[in-house]
Amino acid sequence: MAKEIKTIGVLTSGGDAPGMNAAIRAVVREGIAKGLKVKGIKRGYAGLLAEEIVDMEAKDVSDIIQRGGTILQTARCMEFTTPEGQKKGAEICKKHGIDGVVVIGGDGSFKGAQKLAALGVNTIGLPGTIDLDIACTEYTIGFDTAVNTAMEAIDKVRDTSTSHERCSIIEVMGRGAGHIALWCGIANGAEDILLPEKYDYDEQKLVNNIIEKRQRGKKHHIIINAEGIGHSASMAKRIEAATGVETRATILGHMQRGGSPTCKDRVYASTMGAMAVDLLCEGKSNRVVAYSHGDFVDYDIDEALAMQKGISEYQYEICHNLSK
Ligand code: ADP
Ligand code: F6P
Repeated sequence: MAKEIKTIGVLTSGGDAPGMNAAIRAVVREGIAKGLKVKGIKRGYAGLLAEEIVDMEAKDVSDIIQRGGTILQTARCMEFTTPEGQKKGAEICKKHGIDGVVVIGGDGSFKGAQKLAALGVNTIGLPGTIDLDIACTEYTIGFDTAVNTAMEAIDKVRDTSTSHERCSIIEVMGRGAGHIALWCGIANGAEDILLPEKYDYDEQKLVNNIIEKRQRGKKHHIIINAEGIGHSASMAKRIEAATGVETRATILGHMQRGGSPTCKDRVYASTMGAMAVDLLCEGKSNRVVAYSHGDFVDYDIDEALAMQKGISEYQYEICHNLSK
């Protein structure tokens, strides 16, 4: 029979994402509602190894559901990728009486959770990343806010781009995944979208498209470029030289990771946070909470990490037709 859970910990790890605070609040309050003690582990796995562990009461998560970032702070921690670091982390959990840990982060953070679970600390992962690049889930905490932030910023760039009859290359986040770029491409009616999963480095195609659209009277030309492709400034210079159309590059950067979470991010993160606690109470471990086919579900972390996710080919294909 599974050991009864009495005390749980919660940490945020990897890149922060709007909605992480809503998830922390849900873990703390659902935990307390279920009669558990809840501890906050600061600065991800780095804080675990440094024993930055604090008791959390319901009032400690007041007034945070609407705030971006993470009140627990987040970090990347090389030491925890080593077997020695993981063993030390598990021992620290045991020393502090922590029977279960909710890890809010991306695939890397889930690998850490997997290791803790193998060392006898029950773990549940919550998908927290603006990149939407976790294969087992159609939703990740922070994507909705980030993509809306980027969309609004691109609308503003488009206003000035149209006034000056320029081409604008706008770089959005996504080192390995083009979901933000794809969604903005559709939502902002971009003329071209460059995704790490698809880009063929054929700039002549971009040049031809700009010239063709100009001949048809278009006053702006928006190219959304994902961070994983990058080099927006030098690309702008080359495109201006080849087309004669004034071209500017805008890199949206980390502003996409901040800001008050959308309603969706607050509600989904809250639901997932509460569900993580309920799974721990059921004695489950090495699971990740996901959103799939209209429902909140959970998967084994090993299975979740083995899944593959690409971008939607159909949505990518229709982009050109929709921006005529
Ligand atoms: P994300 O969780 O957003 O994918 P990272 O890949 O940076 O972000 O991972 C966050 C942290 O998770 C790392 O800094 C490290 O502490 C931990 N981690 C990543 N990979 C592993 C691994 N293979 N084993 C144990 N811990 C890992
Ligand atoms: O949070 C995801 C992400 O924004 C990626 O798109 C990006 O490549 C990475 O984090 C950058 O994070 P940082 O600047 O914190 O290293």
